Amino acid sequence: MKLVGAVLFGGLLQAAEGLQSLRRTAQGETIFELGNATYFANTVHPATVLNVGISGLSWDGPITVLHTNVSNITAAVLEDIFKSYSDGDDVFSMAFTSAVLLKTPGTAAVHPAAVDYLSKIKTTHLMAAGGCAVPSHQAVKNMAFNGSLDLPPGPYFASFKAGSVTISKVYRLYEDTHRDFLYGAYAMDDGTGRFASLGVSMPQFGYPAIPVPSRIYSWNDARPFAGYRVAIKDLFDMKGLVTTGGSQAWALVNPVANATAPSIQRILDLGGVLVGKYKLAQFASGANPWDWQDEHYPFNPRGDGWLTCSASSSGGGCSIAAYGWLDYAIGSDTGSSMRRPAAVSGTYGQRPSQGMISLERVLPLGGATDTAGVFSRDPYKWIHFSKHWYTPSLHQSSNITGLSPLVVPDTNAFPKTILYPVDYLPLNNSAAEPILDAFIGNMSSLFGMQVKRFNFSETVANASDLAVANLTRLNNGPLNIINSRTQWVEVANPLIDRWAELFDGRFPPVDSARREGWHEYNETENSLEAYNEALRQKNAAVQWYETNLQYSTPDSCSESVMLYDIGTGGLPSYREEELNNNANASFLAVRPPGATITGASICPLYGCADFTIPIGQVPYWSQVTYHYEMVPITINMVVKRGCDFVLYNMIEKLADAGVLTSVKTGRTAF
Ligand SMILES: *[C@@H]1O[C@H](CO)[C@@H](O)[C@H](O)[C@H]1NC(C)=O
Ligand SMILES: *[C@@H]1O[C@H](CO)[C@@H](O)[C@H](O)[C@H]1NC(C)=O
Ligand SMILES: *[C@@H]1O[C@H](CO)[C@@H](O)[C@H](O)[C@H]1NC(C)=O
Ligand SMILES: *[C@@H]1O[C@H](CO)[C@@H](O)[C@H](O)[C@H]1NC(C)=O
Ligand SMILES: *[C@@H]1O[C@H](CO)[C@@H](O)[C@H](O)[C@H]1NC(C)=O
Ligand SMILES: *[C@@H]1O[C@H](CO)[C@@H](O)[C@H](O)[C@H]1NC(C)=O
Ligand SMILES: *[C@@H]1O[C@H](CO)[C@@H](O)[C@H](O)[C@H]1NC(C)=O
Ligand SMILES: *[C@@H]1O[C@H](CO)[C@@H](O)[C@H](O)[C@H]1NC(C)=O
Ligand SMILES: *[C@@H]1O[C@H](CO)[C@@H](O)[C@H](O)[C@H]1NC(C)=O
Ligand SMILES: *[C@@H]1O[C@H](CO)[C@@H](O)[C@H](O)[C@H]1NC(C)=O
Ligand SMILES: *[C@@H]1O[C@H](CO)[C@@H](O)[C@H](O)[C@H]1NC(C)=O
Ligand SMILES: *[C@@H]1O[C@H](CO)[C@@H](O)[C@H](O)[C@H]1NC(C)=O
Repeated sequence: MKLVGAVLFGGLLQAAEGLQSLRRTAQGETIFELGNATYFANTVHPATVLNVGISGLSWDGPITVLHTNVSNITAAVLEDIFKSYSDGDDVFSMAFTSAVLLKTPGTAAVHPAAVDYLSKIKTTHLMAAGGCAVPSHQAVKNMAFNGSLDLPPGPYFASFKAGSVTISKVYRLYEDTHRDFLYGAYAMDDGTGRFASLGVSMPQFGYPAIPVPSRIYSWNDARPFAGYRVAIKDLFDMKGLVTTGGSQAWALVNPVANATAPSIQRILDLGGVLVGKYKLAQFASGANPWDWQDEHYPFNPRGDGWLTCSASSSGGGCSIAAYGWLDYAIGSDTGSSMRRPAAVSGTYGQRPSQGMISLERVLPLGGATDTAGVFSRDPYKWIHFSKHWYTPSLHQSSNITGLSPLVVPDTNAFPKTILYPVDYLPLNNSAAEPILDAFIGNMSSLFGMQVKRFNFSETVANASDLAVANLTRLNNGPLNIINSRTQWVEVANPLIDRWAELFDGRFPPVDSARREGWHEYNETENSLEAYNEALRQKNAAVQWYETNLQYSTPDSCSESVMLYDIGTGGLPSYREEELNNNANASFLAVRPPGATITGASICPLYGCADFTIPIGQVPYWSQVTYHYEMVPITINMVVKRGCDFVLYNMIEKLADAGVLTSVKTGRTAF
């Protein structure tokens, strides 16, 4: 496979057998092929340089750093270790054994038969740490070395030259065949905490190459996120990269981020690995697939491959549904941007309680309604990540949320009631409702809960409280102020001014989802006073909600869990507009007849926690493949603000009972 953005190595050198297309990028990184996989080595900032004392040796190739505490190193010992590396990692392959570096504690000896074995698997270079005796062998060059061996085990790239060997971390390059990423990225490892974009793409369609490091590197790392591969919405700062917000205009006038967002830094601190920036609806809008201009709309692997990824965290949900080599994707949710992409990709994803995590160094939409969440395929892994990521030290202050400080108990004080809002349920596709009914039955029997049917819109309309009477207008008026002013002040206004300055008074080229709203933005109507008044009204509405609708009792953090569907209720929604004008398909964000607001708007208004949970799938007749395909069914679970961890504990019990399971990658979730 030829790669764009890399040139073949010049000069004469010896390379390991099987090593192909050795080439170097403009930045000096190394790209090579082994077997049928492509790899990238960070030869610009290598992991270590060792002194080997053989000055005549010039050889480039893959090397495996192998850790063992066995003192009698037999062929079986080596075979077992290689097997565990092959089984536990998608980056390592036996093609990495042309050179082997043995790290042993104290004294050890390599058994002669072990060297025979190495020669059989075509190892040509063997390095063993001091104290480890190696018998000589005709075909396996045995080399002593000096230098720090503070290297995790796993596959590396070795370059022997002038008496030393440079050992660099390797990454396998995966093709982003669903075009969900803007680009792949990796930590430069230059001591500055900066990231670099990988200037390499695959041929034909220019798919970005996404670099993922060996999982073996993190096997001895006890941190909770050790080795997790995480994709980041291009709204969050990663030091060294320009945060584009999905806008070429914004990227043009802004420098690279000089620090990493605290929420993303926490992932690094816990051991996670950031593999790239994924596509989003420009400036976190809710733009439909057919309204994207600056980026090509990402692809959803589910069903016919022609379904929407929703917005704005579009590339996040779809990449998690597409790629087994990716563990998590981080996104944001202001109006639905985590929850709906999770629904259409059939993955786990949440809008946490308002104020759960810092959004510093994240391009804002509505400062008091923005939240951040994580996509995952597996309930346990999703909960593990969420509980470690959301830490009190990163909670937002009240002057950002306009709400009381967040308190997040981690208890089993589960809800007693399942609220079933008749204005949002049943699911639109009658074939999907039995799946929801079974889920409700399973949950109520497992936790001894009562199902209470009620009309959400009527409950809100009946409220005597003035703050709630304001609600409908809150959604159209004050919530509009909350959802636009922060972006106006921090993004739109500076971009418009700068562009006019640079280009003779011109308005910046932005997608239609933002153009008119920004052009017509009324700063008088959306003044700071109006913003603060809107926050005050929202605060009153939250208090009403937490007194009258979802409240705490001595036994329950949130007395109820409310269910609704943020997706399409079991109908396909296509990336192609016209195909949705069909009784057997659906647009997104449809407000059910008789409901005052969309279900998605409930938690942005009332501060609550709202999780999208995959529960099944139903068939549909595809207008694209002319074949039956499956569309995922998800349900949203809503609890009172602050009860997120109780809901995670509940979901864990649902997974223990087999009611919830992990989802697969690809065409079908189950
Ligand atoms: C090539 O890829 C296939 C499928 O991904 C895999 O099964 C096979 O082992 C690979 N071959 C080599 C030589 O790595
Ligand atoms: C040797 O390593 C194995 C595998 O890492 C580990 O389980 C074992 O406890 C170690 N033994 C000693 C004596 O350190
Ligand atoms: C190492 O193990 C091999 C195979 O079990 C055995 O033949 C050999 O005697 C052992 N060597 C030492 C020094 O224990
Ligand atoms: C390692 O260091 C020792 C002591 O300085 C030296 O005698 C030896 O030659 C060095 N070996 C190599 C491979 O550089
Ligand atoms: C980053 O740049 C901004 C100006 O763009 C500056 O105010 C800030 O101090 C810099 N931060 C760091 C960590 O260098
Ligand atoms: C919010 O309060 C923090 C300290 O609690 C302060 O640093 C920050 O400037 C305040 N932000 C706003 C927008 O008032
Ligand atoms: C709303 O008020 C009407 C009229 O008083 C009453 O019939 C209805 O039961 C109330 N509904 C709710 C959900 O409170
Ligand atoms: C309802 O809205 C009006 C107009 O914005 C405002 O003056 C009033 O204070 C609001 N009432 C409450 C209780 O928030
Ligand atoms: C902006 O809003 C103010 C207050 O609502 C209104 O008086 C004014 O006419 C609006 N300006 C424009 C250009 O619409
Ligand atoms: C159900 O789908 C139809 C289109 O088939 C749509 O008109 C209707 O609004 C949808 N209802 C809900 C509640 O989404
Ligand atoms: C719920 O209440 C609203 C407002 O009173 C009403 O318009 C709607 O028809 C009701 N929906 C159902 C399904 O009862
Ligand atoms: C869930 O409910 C369905 C329908 O009642 C039942 O067939 C199934 O066994 C239940 N699953 C679990 C895991 O309890």
